[in-house]
Amino acid sequence: MLELQNIQVSVNDAEVVHNVSILIPNGKVAALMGPNGSGKSSLVNAVMGHPRYHLTQGYVVLDGEDITNVSTDEKAKKGIFLSLQNPPAIPGITVSSFLRNAVQAWTGKNIPVMEFKSLLEQEMQKIGMEREFASRYVHEGFSGGEKKRLEALQLILLKPKYALLDETDSGLDVDALKIIARNIQRVSAEMGILLITHYTRILQYLVPDEVYIMREGRIVQRGGKELADKIEKQGYMV
Ligand SMILES: Nc1ncnc2c1ncn2[C@@H]1O[C@H](COP(=O)(O)OP(=O)(O)OP(=O)(O)O)[C@@H](O)[C@H]1O
Ligand SMILES: [Mg+2]
Repeated sequence: MLELQNIQVSVNDAEVVHNVSILIPNGKVAALMGPNGSGKSSLVNAVMGHPRYHLTQGYVVLDGEDITNVSTDEKAKKGIFLSLQNPPAIPGITVSSFLRNAVQAWTGKNIPVMEFKSLLEQEMQKIGMEREFASRYVHEGFSGGEKKRLEALQLILLKPKYALLDETDSGLDVDALKIIARNIQRVSAEMGILLITHYTRILQYLVPDEVYIMREGRIVQRGGKELADKIEKQGYMV
């Protein structure tokens, strides 16, 4: 289980997340919803160690081990994955070399270039990504939906223990959403997922065991899948 305990986050000296606790059990999906600006991205960025988002109180506990102050790369090596809401471009680094290096670092195994190329092509085909993306630079010139596909492809290839997915569904067309959600679901049996989303559509495929609602930096409601359906119908204002 990945436990976020009483987390407080500051950005530019302003506290944007106050005393938030979320449990992400292995093999389960927790959904995090909430209006724009409620602190969802700040929370996951701080948990992963983004230098701008200061985790000023609370603990990140991975399978019983306190990893609050562990560096970002070590957190990744321990199996935590963050899919960014707005992933930056990395000019000069191709998708295939980026992904091969990431998979090698995570598995500790050397994968010959040709072997990785064929694995990559298979997985890209499954999520409907054209082969030419393998030789493009990471996220450079990618459309909104193409960026989300590449974030999902990373998750599918890496198969981390715990995945924090910050709006992986936003910007995807309806067909792409279905394909990507199913492919994430395919690799998620032994993964704990925290899924930040504004829509219930993705939750039809990645069915949440627990839904958390965040507002003004606090968890204000917690419930089952029906809570997400209620929000979809009624909004956050009621
Ligand atoms: N780098 C930053 N500099 C200044 N303020 C920031 C920064 N990042 C976040 N904030 C502020 O922190 C608050 C929470 O933002 P955050 O991005 O965490 O919200 P969110 O819940 O992810 O919203 P959305 O649903 O729109 O993605 C907002 O008021 C935002 O303006
Ligand atoms: Mg956000």
